[in-house]
Amino acid sequence: MNFKLIYRSTAAPNITDRDINNILETARKFNSKNNITGCLLYYKNEFLQVLEGDEKTVLELYSHIEKDKRHTDVLLINQEHSKVREFSNWTMAFKELTDLDIAHINEYLDIPKFNKLVDLSFYSTLTNKLFHYFSQTIVFETMFKKHLI
Ligand SMILES: Cc1cc2nc3c(=O)[nH]c(=O)nc-3n(C[C@H](O)[C@H](O)[C@H](O)COP(=O)(O)O)c2cc1C
Repeated sequence: MNFKLIYRSTAAPNITDRDINNILETARKFNSKNNITGCLLYYKNEFLQVLEGDEKTVLELYSHIEKDKRHTDVLLINQEHSKVREFSNWTMAFKELTDLDIAHINEYLDIPKFNKLVDLSFYSTLTNKLFHYFSQTIVFETMFKKHLI
């Protein structure tokens, strides 16, 4: 069965756009070869990522990611088996969130910082909702950029 893992982390203070592009390039290459899908959100120096795929592959990848110097305070929010993939078409979707995005999402989720998700007992539902919301936004924006809509 498919496996899904969600974590948050703090970006290294000196992180650049180039570093983020490098992360995405590595991620998309590895993930497409290993049938991993997911989404990476970035907001005010925090990362929130969901990784989906075969359990062993996802856990192995996470153990590499945890040691990556481009971020710190890597905290696992949730891991679970799941029948469906939320990001089946994405080797690694990426979105840098704006204050407006956060304002929208806070209409039904109060998440000033991703950190807060770790403390909440119902985090799983929250993070799923969050990713669901942003996957819609990402799809919309990508289509918009390609003038498909
Ligand atoms: C926030 C963040 C997200 C990452 N996501 C992925 C990913 O989805 N897939 C991937 O292969 N590497 C990802 N990486 C890169 C890995 O940490 C690591 O560089 C990569 O697995 C290569 O491993 P190695 O540096 O030990 O050779 C990510 C790194 C960071 C900082």
